[in-house]
Order: sequence, then C-alpha cells, then structure tokens
Amino acid sequence: MKRIAVITSGGDAPGMNACIRAIVLTASQHDIEVIGFRHGFRGIVEDLNQPLHPNDMRLVSQRGGTILLSSRYPQFKEVDAARQAAAVLDQHDISALVVIGGDGSFRGAHHLDQYWDGQVLGLPGTIDNDLAGTDTTIGFTTAVDTAMEAIDRIRETAEAMARVFLIEVMGRHAGFIGLHSAIAGSAEAMLVPELEPQPKLADLADSIRRARQAFPDSSYLIVVSENLWPGGVEELARQLTQATGTTCHSAPLGHIQRGGRPNAADRILSMQLGQAAVHAVLDGISGHMIGVEQGHVVRVPLHLTFERDKQLDSRLVDLQLGLQQLNFASNVV
Ligand code: F6P
Repeated sequence: MKRIAVITSGGDAPGMNACIRAIVLTASQHDIEVIGFRHGFRGIVEDLNQPLHPNDMRLVSQRGGTILLSSRYPQFKEVDAARQAAAVLDQHDISALVVIGGDGSFRGAHHLDQYWDGQVLGLPGTIDNDLAGTDTTIGFTTAVDTAMEAIDRIRETAEAMARVFLIEVMGRHAGFIGLHSAIAGSAEAMLVPELEPQPKLADLADSIRRARQAFPDSSYLIVVSENLWPGGVEELARQLTQATGTTCHSAPLGHIQRGGRPNAADRILSMQLGQAAVHAVLDGISGHMIGVEQGHVVRVPLHLTFERDKQLDSRLVDLQLGLQQLNFASNVV
C-alpha cells in the first residue's frame, strides 16, 4: 500500500485541519495510507509520527490551530537535517510528503526535495497570504475576519470616546491583512509596506489634526501592518501624540489573528487543496505548490512561490486610498 506523510509547519493557520481531513479522506479512497509528523519538519527529523485514519477526521475541520501541531525549525536549512528527514521518511516507506505551511516551510520543502527521492508538495497555509502563484492561502480570509471584528469593536469604544487608535495587524512583511482589514473596517488611514511612497509622520499627523478639527466627536482609526514602523505601533502612537497634541492609542491585535475557527471560505479552500494534493501525488508531481487562481487549482514550482514578491491588488489599494480621502471630504482635502 502506498503511504504519504503530512506536516503542518510554521505559523498555524485556520483551515489547516480541514486540509488534513481532505488529504486523509481522499487518500483512503485511493488506498493510500497517511502518516502525520507532529511539529512540522522537526517532527520528521525526530520521528514524531502519528497515523492518521479517516475515522479520526470527523470533528477536525471546524477547529482552528492544527491537530498535527507545528513549529518554526530554522535548523532545517542544514543539509544534515534534510538528510536525516529523508532517512526517516524512507524508514516509514513514505513516497510523498505534503507540507502545509508558508514561505519558510516551502523553503524547507524545496530544500528537502534536493536530498530525498520521494515527491514533495506544498499547500499554502499562512494567514499572511504572501505566497506568489496562488490567489489566496489557507487562513487568510479568517484572519481578515478576525481583524475586522476587532477593528469593529475598537471602533465602538473609539467612537464613544472620540479617540484616535492605531491598530496593528499581522502579515510578517506583507500588507494583505492590513489592506483587506482596513477596507472591511472602514479605516480612516492605512499603513502597509507596499505603499509607494510611504505616508510620512507629518502627513499622518496633518490628516489626524484636520479630521479632529472638522469632526471633533468622531473616532479615527489607522490600520498599521506589523514590522513597518521602527519601534512598532506603540512608538508611532507616541510620535503622533506628540505631533498632534491628541492622545493616539495603540492596539496591537497580535496572535488572536491566528486562532479561531476557520470561516467557510477557508474550509472550502483547504478541502479543495487537500484533495488536489492527493491527485498531484497520484500524477507523480513533485517540487510544486498546489494553489488556486481564479477558482482553478494550479501547480506552481515551489521556488517560484517564495522567490517572487506577491503584489497587492492595486484596485483594492486604490479603493482604500480613495475612500480615505472621501471620509472627511467636505473639510479635509
Ligand atoms: O506567518 C504568520 C505570522 O502570524 C505572521 O503574521 C507573524 O509575523 C508571525 O507569524 C509571528 O510568528 P510567531 O508566532 O512565531 O511569533
């Protein structure tokens, strides 16, 4: 009987469990056995294996996190680690490995592909949506929903108290969560790494000052991507408070954006990709990510997913920047 292995690696993302379910069920249909390794690549190196049976999959799709557990394992860059992983996979008679993860995990998968004869496939699982070659990634839309809900809640208290808030969202070095949650949360301003030119402190302070003058009883929310402002959102809030004379509050949303039950879109995407991964195994494909473009499943060489930058949708950037301008249009140009 053919055997495949699955790991979830790097930052967990809502939908990973639904993906594991689809892999296990589809594999069983083709008489393929599935073994998981806990904690990602570290689990392969340390042989933390766990059989995955279709019967165990009944109540997993709804759950956030990952039933296979995950980890960051930078040591996997080393040749010895890849060779050790290859030896463990061979000991278990595994012919294909499916890696559900993001950028770093795909680098690991690509590395392993050089030292192991089996098939290596990647499924895009990261809230950051920063992998090229796929329109979206497992967990991204759920994270945006979570950020939006947090922004809505902050909006209510900010509006009640006529306050300025800087809300920091995740994304590593990409602005997908920032852009999408800024639009969904009707943010007055947005700071994401892809903006050219980047708004300066003086511009932000000026916008806040003018909005406060025109609408002193209103809230003002700025969505800020993490890793963007030197010193973080707290430092930006401090600088803006000083520049405007208005207290600016900071609210880093942090890891709440990673947890929670996957939304319907992420469950559907995860199951579509999980099923397609097993089909790719049957087709003998290796060294590829399985993604989606315009609703169609695509197979993209792994290295192209992390060597190229994925662009924000410029129409959505224009939408947010345009609406920002119109927010206080009668008084703020
Ligand atoms: O890649 C997912 C992500 O949540 C990023 O948005 C964030 O920068 C990073 O992981 C945080 O990683 P960790 O949980 O290891 O601190």
